[in-house]
Amino acid sequence: MKTTSSTSATLWVEVWGAALVCALTFPRSLAAETGADAWLRYSKLNPQAAEVYRRFPDKVVLLGDSLLLQTAEQELSRAVEQMSGRALQVERNSSAGKAIVLGTMKDLRALSSRLHPPHELSGDGYWLKSAKIHGAECLIIAGGTDRGALYGVFALLSKIARAESPAAVDLATMDEEQQPYAAVRWVNQWDNLDGRIERGYGGPSIFFADGKVRSDLTRASQYARLLASIGINGCTLNNVNAAPGILEDGFIEQVSRIADVFRPWGVEVSLSVDLSSPKVMGGLDTFDPLDSRVAEWWRKRAGAIYRRIPDFGGFVVKADSEGRLGPSTYGRTPADAANVIARALQPHHGVVFYRAFVYNHHLDWHDLKNDRAKAAYDNFHPLDGAFDDNVIIQIKNGPIDFQVREPVSPLLAGLRRTNEAIELQITQEYTGQQRHLCFLVPMWKEVLDFDMRVDAHAAPVKDLVEGRVFRRPTGGLVGVANVGMAANWMGSPLAMANLYGFGRLAWDPDLRGEKIIDEWTRLTFGSNPLVVKTITAIELRSWQVYESYTGPLGAGTLTNILGNHYDPGPESSEENGWGQWHRADHQGIGMDRTVETGTGYIGQYPPEVQKLYASLARCPDELLLFFHHVPYSYGLHSGKTVIQHVYDSHYDGADQARDFTAQWKALAGHIDDERYRDILARLEYQAGEAVVWRDAICNWAFRLSGIPDEKGRVGIDPAK
Ligand code: GCU
Repeated sequence: MKTTSSTSATLWVEVWGAALVCALTFPRSLAAETGADAWLRYSKLNPQAAEVYRRFPDKVVLLGDSLLLQTAEQELSRAVEQMSGRALQVERNSSAGKAIVLGTMKDLRALSSRLHPPHELSGDGYWLKSAKIHGAECLIIAGGTDRGALYGVFALLSKIARAESPAAVDLATMDEEQQPYAAVRWVNQWDNLDGRIERGYGGPSIFFADGKVRSDLTRASQYARLLASIGINGCTLNNVNAAPGILEDGFIEQVSRIADVFRPWGVEVSLSVDLSSPKVMGGLDTFDPLDSRVAEWWRKRAGAIYRRIPDFGGFVVKADSEGRLGPSTYGRTPADAANVIARALQPHHGVVFYRAFVYNHHLDWHDLKNDRAKAAYDNFHPLDGAFDDNVIIQIKNGPIDFQVREPVSPLLAGLRRTNEAIELQITQEYTGQQRHLCFLVPMWKEVLDFDMRVDAHAAPVKDLVEGRVFRRPTGGLVGVANVGMAANWMGSPLAMANLYGFGRLAWDPDLRGEKIIDEWTRLTFGSNPLVVKTITAIELRSWQVYESYTGPLGAGTLTNILGNHYDPGPESSEENGWGQWHRADHQGIGMDRTVETGTGYIGQYPPEVQKLYASLARCPDELLLFFHHVPYSYGLHSGKTVIQHVYDSHYDGADQARDFTAQWKALAGHIDDERYRDILARLEYQAGEAVVWRDAICNWAFRLSGIPDEKGRVGIDPAK
């Protein structure tokens, strides 16, 4: 049955030609851009790319009618039309003639039993394959699931939009199978019901305003599309510091409207919940997880949610952390708390993400053995094996809190009989709040590739969180995204590379950072070689540049941690309950976390990693001050002293930040004015801020150490 008819009888070839003329006369990249389309711009193809796609079929055969397959077909048709001007003809279940065949593997086999991908597709994987079906040349997009088919469509469109090499998209030779690395590929939004977003830098919430779900959910629907395009399959809508009211019947009803706009994109919604809800909103006199009335309360709430949202993903829990109530109120454990909720969700196949970010922010800083970094492991390692199978422990990548450089959390190797997911922060809370450029993929790659050497065998973090090392049924990656109503989603156009990169790494952590940023740049700004070269170079350097003027040698981002987490404020991270970070005094700097003389934190790692960090000779320079307290004159592997490194890195970092603006200016006229000017203003601001940081940290280090800069830049009395 024909469901959509082509409005034009023109051959595709001719339309590509028209697109070519259009591309030559009015390149879209110079038209006004708000950034709202992010990496899904589907610009008109350039002549070279148009040539490559000449032989593509002009018909789609849809092998089913599920909601997701319909979405996949609509996305394909819309994008092809936008890029080429050609409307695809859509047919259902027909197999006659040259066509793009779209469906699940199961449906494909019914059409032709000879077609098998090299490896059996499981879960949300897909297969792009050119093959003859009943004698006609076809391009198959087959998913392990309907959602996999949608991902296959996005993958094909991305190739076309990036004008990948002809070989990669040649209809005659296409054969690509992809399988997602991890089952859990989720984002968390920290949106409050009043519309503000905790640590959000892209405007107010796209979900909530004035205590209600927004009436217009257009942006939410667009967000779900963006997420699906990079393989994200779950989204938690509200702040981990959750308002109990979210679980009221009236609110669930409203949340179901968000689920309705996410469903066509295969993104499950979930909610953060407050553990004290049975008491504060449920009318019970307790929220003790071992009380049967509390268990019944959670069971009923879960039932109410699933009646309205049958594909609801589950709950995220932050408890006993930063003032949130938790099971410790009743002397119960995180396992007691997680399991009572897990059992309520289990009949509906829901999952509990219990956050390992549990720590005491009233620690006595006078006691040098106290160390916030130890908390996650101390709290959760003893409970390994005590959690139900539908509980996932959500562990921040480092033991503190999303600093510009931290070692990986030892808890990631400390749970053998418990599911886990790693939590990465896409929103740049401690990394410049989207006002500084900081492309985090290189950092995340280091984290995911870090080998924990469990039982003297390779155990990279990516394999631990995915469940491969200890054969766990589930696990994966969670990113704190915090997009908002800003037209460009995150406030800064270049920051969107982090959201894109997170999705790509959750899908395939073995992708190189260079590849990810190259893809993103081409999709976001087009494939002009100068544009691609400049933007990829700036993004790839940006994390180390930011680190070099804000957080030397693993001392933590030396921001004002008691305030905005943005301005320089190294004193704030000491001598209070929240932080024991660098212990800088007149003698030396760094936190002794060794077992022998320090806090003992290093002892939480597997033995080979312990040896690496405990040894001053082997500990990498970039983490030295995280693990050791040393005099300012201590010699680094680089040959510099600690204090000279602090001075030099801050001056180098500020110089490099200034250099970004110079490089950017070369792009004038090569990208649209709107984004050109916006980004230039941000880079110029960053260059100025880098000088503020440089001077603040260098002067602080000089005041403490009394050692002047050997290059004469710091510690010189201006009066002399
Ligand atoms: C950081 C952040 C908080 C957030 C917390 C968390 O501390 O500053 O705003 O609530 O992380 O991850 O729960």
